[in-house]
Amino acid sequence: MYPVSALALNFDSAGRLAEAEAAAFDVAAEPAGGARDAACAATEQYRRYGFLKVRGVLSEQQAAYFRDAAVAFRERTPSYRKDAILDQHVNVWRSDDVLRRLTLNGRIAAIAQRLAGVALRLWHDQLLVKTAGDSRATEFHQDQPYWPHAGASQPITAWIALVDVPVERGCMSFLPGSHRQRDVPRHELDQQCGLFELVPELEWAPRVTLPLRAGDCTFHHGRTAHFAGPNLTGEDRIAQGIIYTDAATRFSGGRHVVTKSLELQPGDPLEGELFPLVSSLPG
Ligand code: SIN
Ligand code: NI
Repeated sequence: MYPVSALALNFDSAGRLAEAEAAAFDVAAEPAGGARDAACAATEQYRRYGFLKVRGVLSEQQAAYFRDAAVAFRERTPSYRKDAILDQHVNVWRSDDVLRRLTLNGRIAAIAQRLAGVALRLWHDQLLVKTAGDSRATEFHQDQPYWPHAGASQPITAWIALVDVPVERGCMSFLPGSHRQRDVPRHELDQQCGLFELVPELEWAPRVTLPLRAGDCTFHHGRTAHFAGPNLTGEDRIAQGIIYTDAATRFSGGRHVVTKSLELQPGDPLEGELFPLVSSLPG
């Protein structure tokens, strides 16, 4: 197991992450000068800590366009999950022409692939809404234990804010370095201490909370532990998650909503038009 305590993050006397370190998790989609160096530093940051915030992957107008499509989609489509934690729709790209353009956005996919450092394909997407007043947090968890994957070493999620997501509306927090914790059994999103019962030292790891403006995005590794607070505001928190996995991923045989209607056998590759390669997406 990775020694979480070895992380050298500095906090000020109020417990906030020192400005220089916090800034290191937060980069612009189009760095002004020295773009190559900035991209390398961001990639290093992602690989070291397991997450990164990238500002402005969508313009304000694009975010509003996709937000309106998400609102309309929710009005006409039943949720896969709806409770006080999340209102969740899975694989919206397969049934909505506008949201499909977001999920298959080649620029976001190219950033994910660069951070991951391996060829990727789409695994699935999720429209993730915490409706106004949703009272419960999405508790700390890793995503990878949920997935029926074999041979996936660098799965990565882009979580794109389609509205402003300050802390009070349920932005995400991450445990730096927790992507090094392998083989953690599946634990539930609604169990406050589920992950910490399995990996006790993570309870004492620093937590990095990243509020996002509409159009900003976080990327996190499939094993990076993350959390989102309750939505205490009067406005819905609307985000779209786009989840990529290694191009070479095979089906493990586990149960999952995305694969349940496919006739896959353990060991079959995830491939074809349902799981497009990032290299095939429009730039
Ligand atoms: C959330 O949007 O509240 C959680 C997202 C995630 O677990 O990836
Ligand atoms: Ni998650």
